[in-house]
Order: sequence, then structure tokens, then C-alpha cells
Amino acid sequence: MCGIVGAVAERNVVQILLEGLRRLEYRGYDSAGVALIRENNLSIVKRTGKVQALVDAIDEDNGKGTTGVAHTRWATHGGVTEVNAHPHYSHDRFAVVHNGIIENHKYLRSELTQKGFEFVSETDTETIAHNIAANMAETGDLLQAVLTAVKGFEGAYGTVVIDKQNPNEMVVARSGSPLVIGLGIGENFVASDQMALFPVTRRFIFLQEGDVAKITRTSVTIIDSDGNEVEREATESNVQHDAGDKGTYRHYMLKEIYEQPDVIRNTLKERVTTDGLTDNLFGPNSDVIFEKTNYIKIIACGTSYHAGVTAKYWLEQYAGVHCDVEIASEFRYRKSFVPDNSLLITISQSGETADTLAALRLAKELGYMSSLAICNVDGSSLVRESEMSFMTKAGTEVGVASTKAFTTQLASLLMLTISIGQQKGMSSDVKSSMLAGLSSLPTKLEETLALSDEIEDLAEEFADKYHSLFLGRGDQYPIAMEGALKLKEISYIHAEAYASGELKHGPLALIDADMPVIVVAPNNELLEKLHSNVEEVRARGGIMYVFADKESQFESDETMRVVNVPNCKDAIAPIIYTIPLQLLSYYVALIKGTDVDQPRNLAKSVTVE
Ligand code: M6R
Repeated sequence: MCGIVGAVAERNVVQILLEGLRRLEYRGYDSAGVALIRENNLSIVKRTGKVQALVDAIDEDNGKGTTGVAHTRWATHGGVTEVNAHPHYSHDRFAVVHNGIIENHKYLRSELTQKGFEFVSETDTETIAHNIAANMAETGDLLQAVLTAVKGFEGAYGTVVIDKQNPNEMVVARSGSPLVIGLGIGENFVASDQMALFPVTRRFIFLQEGDVAKITRTSVTIIDSDGNEVEREATESNVQHDAGDKGTYRHYMLKEIYEQPDVIRNTLKERVTTDGLTDNLFGPNSDVIFEKTNYIKIIACGTSYHAGVTAKYWLEQYAGVHCDVEIASEFRYRKSFVPDNSLLITISQSGETADTLAALRLAKELGYMSSLAICNVDGSSLVRESEMSFMTKAGTEVGVASTKAFTTQLASLLMLTISIGQQKGMSSDVKSSMLAGLSSLPTKLEETLALSDEIEDLAEEFADKYHSLFLGRGDQYPIAMEGALKLKEISYIHAEAYASGELKHGPLALIDADMPVIVVAPNNELLEKLHSNVEEVRARGGIMYVFADKESQFESDETMRVVNVPNCKDAIAPIIYTIPLQLLSYYVALIKGTDVDQPRNLAKSVTVE
């Protein structure tokens, strides 16, 4: 989603800003822009499309400045046009970039229009620029002007303001959208994500909700939400930005699919042995908290939500704890009941998803006993605001369609199931079988990836299809949901997932030869039921693609193609069966020629609601 980079220095900052934008590119955006101040001159360059288009538009004249802000925009208010791209400006003096949504922008727009301000864009952000210009006329001080302006904003913002008449400072404000200050020597920076600033610093101050800060080359002054000047601790970041390049892979997504055995090895390393799990693996005192826990609520969005639904099956079956899973955007806007001794678990790749963060904050007010974040980004807002956290060690995930983040979430949630199960009297047989399953995971994943050629071949049959149906039962139902999400995200084929038992309650009406049906059918106690579901589809002329192991007794014929997945223990089967569905959507997208790593209309990190 939108990205921000800002700098105040003695040197020309344009390359720092552009490199920062490149590092945020994978998050998804549709236009980019930069504003630079040089000797009291303000120049602004914006382009729709990729950051490269902006880079190409920058030259000797417009590409110099010692203070500057840059932005990648993912359109919310107003179409994808150069005028709507950030930075926005007022009086040819102030330039503003903004992540988030100013919800009362219509009111602010009409108020400012009455005061004589002329709007050129359709965005909510332009109200910030004019608002600050209006306040500046009264206060004459940029920090004061921003402090006054934010009092009138409703909604979410991470915003940076520069003023050509005060060329040696930036004023930034954060509420509901993250901002981090990067500390240099004789120069300072700001960004929406620390990763954008790794080429220039590793020392950061994470702004807190409601903070407003003035940043000069040599100082940082922070005012908190109560209006008091505060000191915020600077920390040294040890976060690895290891995305590297695509190497020999055609897309990041494919590279990330193939990284799964290794990143799962990392996720398990020093956490799982054949004897058990490390004590208090999920945070200080986690074993005591798990022992007390009577009810678990899991909150997440998208793929992370699917990981949560899988975990519900595991936690209830193996650990014997009551668990519900809810989409964050639903939870945050309804009244819910919190039983005694409830544990809140959030799952998120980025740790910055606006709805998940809002749900965590609400849960604290509702009186959950404790909160645990399962997250891939150390230092993210979700991790910092949760009482306990557990890092999935997937490494940087660049592809918008989540792959390795999902399977490392699942591996982490299986560890969580064992950890909680141990406190709830899980039998030693179940525990040993789950531990053995976890230890075998990396090798089983390698064997499963060897199906790649067979799946690439099968993908040809989807290229002319508009709709598809994914079926699974038990803990494979969320895997079917995830398979459907992957296919629609990157190939733009409509895909729906159903628990197979629901077939005859409606979706069977859709079955015909143009609606491929994808079935995940591991060899477990539900196999016979799945055989019946497959026959129901066959009887209606459906064409099926079945992923099953050899013992499952599915045979390929003219209406059914069977891909044999390696045998594996029950608990890890959802992780193994995820792989062929990822490969299928990747190869279908490849045939359709879509932008696999940055599919249309989507962003990697959804930081607005
Ligand atoms: O960073 P998060 O895990 O919180 O993100 C949640 C969803 O936005 C994310 O999983 C999304 O659904 C992915 N594009 C799925 O591939």
C-alpha cells in the first residue's frame, strides 16, 4: 500500500528518496512522486505507474534538494492520475505526503474552500496541505501548524510536511498509520517502514500513536498525544532485508514458493526437537498463560485468516481448547462476548494490517487475558503492541500473493498447538506424532515441490476458464479457501472454496464442464466422504483435479486428473497440500500473462481499512 520516505540533510537527498521508494515498491502502488527543496525552491515531480517512470522523469533541474519527501500511492480517494498522486501542495510552498484516510475530508474541503483555498485533486490528502497553510498564516511555526491541524483530522494518517520557507526541517505526524524516524549523522530521515531507510541508517525511533515530530538535520523533537514534549528511545534494528533479487526465478512468487523448505527449517530451528518444544516458546510466561487459557480468539485477514481457520481445527482436535476465528474487519465493528481467561491471537505477515491492529487494540479494551502476535516482521506495530509475540521466519516476502508467510504461519501454529496441548494434558503419543510430523516437514515440502512440472502441465487446462471451485474437508477446508484466494489474486479467475459437505446445499448447481473443480483429498478419516463428493461432481459432468496420496485410491480418467502428493502425517497435511495449489495458481497466472508479483488493484500490506 502507500509508502513514505523523507530526508533532511546537507547532501542531495533525491537518490536516498528514490531508493527508499524502490524498497517499498513490492507493497503495491499505482503512482509515485517526490518533492524537493533547494535554496527555498520547491520542485515536485509525479508520475502514474512504476517508480521507474518517476526516476525517468527526474533530471538535473528537478532532481536536487537537501530536504525532500517521496511517496508511492495506492489510490483510495480519486483515480490513478498524476494530479491525484502525492506529494500534494498548498500555495506552492508546502508539500505533503500521506498514508491513511482522512475520513472527514469532505467537511474539511468545504471549510477550506470557503476560506478561499483551491483544490486541484480529488484526494483527501490535499486537505492536509491546505489546512497546514491556513494554520501557518496564524502561527508562523510549522510544528505548531501541524499540531493544530491534526486536532481536526478524523481517520488515519502517517504524514510528512515540508515548507520551502523553512527548508531545514520536516514535520511528521502519526495516527493509525506507522512512521519511523531514521537517525543519521548530521542528517535524519523518516519512512513508513524502516526497510526503506536501511541504505542510510539502522538507528530508529518508532513514533507512537498521536505523536507529532519536528525533524531537522541534527535534532528530533517529539510531542505526544497529550501535547507534552517526550523522549522516545532510539533502537538499533537487526531486521534482515533479505529479499535479494529474483535470482534465476522468473518471479518473486516462484522464488518464495521454492524457499519454503528452508524457511520452515528456520522457523523450527532451535524451537523443536524430537523431545519437545523449548519452554515458554511464545514469550515470557507463555506456558503459565496457556495453562490458564480457556478460550482462544484468533483474528486476522486474508491468507493469515486462513492460517487461523486451520489452527482452529488443530487447537480443538489436538489441544482440546475452544477456539474461534474471525476476520479482523468484522470483529472490530461488532459487540462480542469475552469468556473468562480468553487469549487473543493475531496472525499477520506484515504486522501492519490496519484492521488487525485495530482489532488488537479493541481486544485490550474488552479485557482479554493476554495477546499473542504470530508475525513475520519483528518490530512491526502488531508485535510491539502485543504482550507476547512469535516470529515466523519466512524472511522478506515480496510477492503480493502470500506463500511462504502462510506455510511458516501454519508451522508456527502447529508448534503453538503442541505448546498449549502440553499444558492441557495432550497425550505423549499425539505429541510425539506431531513433533515427528513437524521435523519431517522440510523434506516432505521438497518432495512436494518436485510436482512442479506435472502441475505446470495441468495449468494449461485452466487458461480459458472463468470460474473454479475448490473443495476440502476438515483442516483441508481452509487450504481449499487459500487455494481459491491464490488463484483469484494472481490469475483473476473467479474461484470459490467450499467445505465439500456443503456441495449439495447449493454449489452443485454450478457444476459443468467449464467449471473446474479442485479437490484436496488427503488420506484421513474423511477420505470416504470425499470419494462420495467426487462422485456427486462426476455425475453432473464436472471436470476434477484431485490432489491426493497414492493410497487414497483416486485414479485419473477422462473426467478426473489425479496428482499424487507425498504421504504425510495428518497434522502436517494442510501445509503439504498448500504447495500444489500455490504452484497451480502461479502457472495459470503465467499462462494468462498477469503481473504475478504485483497483481492489479492489490497491495502487499493493507495499512488502511
Ligand atoms: O500482512 P497480513 O498477513 O496481515 O495481510 C493480510 C492480508 O492482507 C494478506 O494475507 C492478503 O490476503 C494476501 N494478499 C494474500 O495473498
